[in-house]
Amino acid sequence: MADFDLVVRGGTVGTAYEMFEADIGVKDGKIEAIGRNLGAGKEEVSAKGRLVLPGGIDSHCHIEEVGQDGGVQEESFASGSAAALAGGTTSFICFLPQWKGHTLAESAPGYADRARQSRADYSFHQIITDPTPEVMQKEVPALVAKGVRSLKVFLTYDPLQLTDSQFLEVLATARRLGAMVTVHCENFDAIGWRIKALLAAGKTDPLQHAWARPPLVEREATHRAIALAELVDQPIQVFHVSCEEAAAEIARARGRGLKVWGETCPQYLTLSHEDLDQPDFGGAKAVCSPALREKGENERVWARIKDGTLDIVTSDHCGFSFATAKRNPGASGYGQGGATARADGMPAFNAIPNGVPGIETRLPVLFSEGVSKGRISVNEFVRITSANSARLFGLGGRKGAIVPGADADLVLWDPDAERTIEVAKMHQAIDYTPWEGLDVKGWPVVTIRRGEIAMRDGEILAAPGSGTFLARGPYDFIAPTGTVPDGFDAAAIG
Ligand code: URP
Ligand code: ZN
Ligand code: ZN
Repeated sequence: MADFDLVVRGGTVGTAYEMFEADIGVKDGKIEAIGRNLGAGKEEVSAKGRLVLPGGIDSHCHIEEVGQDGGVQEESFASGSAAALAGGTTSFICFLPQWKGHTLAESAPGYADRARQSRADYSFHQIITDPTPEVMQKEVPALVAKGVRSLKVFLTYDPLQLTDSQFLEVLATARRLGAMVTVHCENFDAIGWRIKALLAAGKTDPLQHAWARPPLVEREATHRAIALAELVDQPIQVFHVSCEEAAAEIARARGRGLKVWGETCPQYLTLSHEDLDQPDFGGAKAVCSPALREKGENERVWARIKDGTLDIVTSDHCGFSFATAKRNPGASGYGQGGATARADGMPAFNAIPNGVPGIETRLPVLFSEGVSKGRISVNEFVRITSANSARLFGLGGRKGAIVPGADADLVLWDPDAERTIEVAKMHQAIDYTPWEGLDVKGWPVVTIRRGEIAMRDGEILAAPGSGTFLARGPYDFIAPTGTVPDGFDAAAIG
């Protein structure tokens, strides 16, 4: 009789801090044993010559997201989760929307039901664009109780941005409820002012997206978000840090003992202005916010991963195809300053939907550029792609770890495999990848999600609907520090 449902045999196991040779025995979707020469499994997978790492957690991606105008991003839960599994990601956190002027219940009804089509495990951050008393005192507490234990706010984009006083409301509510707050940090007014001037000067190319949003607007908003979070004593994560100026704000806050974490994305580690300045409107493929920076900035962002300022690398995957959305002045999507069309029919830079696809390429690009090129160790790779997301978002002990009792989410990596990234071979629904033609070394060859072989050699075996919702309960890691700057704790009063 078999001892296990599945045994992953003879691999090199990599965790957040260790590397060792072992078999992994799986029962009922969980890791039951780790050791040499384990007994038989009903099913066995040879991991000889492979690294066995925790399944990736992509704690920031936009899947089938519904905009304020009712437009739906093109990546469905079925396709986006297939892409995730193909790229070695077994869990992701995407976004429940709130439309300004509406309650949470009124915003994108049925979204959480559509997520049930996922093949990977999933959870939600709740976007807050309109923190009315009804939303903050009734709806958000009910949602947190159901396991949606993180909020997302934007300090820019119309019509999503919060004022500082609204942001303070969100921070104070989150502290009372024991929820995490994630923040998009850019200065809305400064960007709007520069967009106006650029358009008035006839500057409309995709590259001018970066001119409208220089590092300073990110640095200022990062500084402000941290200061307001300090005033409330509410832990925050700064999303998609693109540059040293913003990372330095986080490092300074951490040095002062504040609970502030930083996330970046592969686009800020590998792409640059050059990708925005391409023929045939190709620069639109690289329009995302914060904007891509000048080439030298990539290494400075890598350095902030190495020194621990940036804890997590997510995809910030967005479902905007080149043919349908990126070249369409009327397309629905993240943007600012109005839908201006140019004489050639293309959108002006500010009307190109912001965001790039990356849920499938996140881990292969990072492994190749990071581990294979010697910038980071396998352990660091595990920390920034799964273990730290689990800790920060209340999935510790269950995800992002190879320990007995954790979900058996495992990825077998061939560290020597050489591939070229080509959208034609990918599983995402989006018609391009910004990494087209990139040669990578290291590839996920088998993805196991809760003990089920979900992907083998690029073939997706997990069915739509086999993913499960990850409810996230209270956890100590994000407890407030207990200190406010001058001792007057306004958040405690209400
Ligand atoms: O350009 C980006 N990042 N689009 C997605 C929305 C966001 O800001 O996270
Ligand atoms: Zn954002
Ligand atoms: Zn995003």
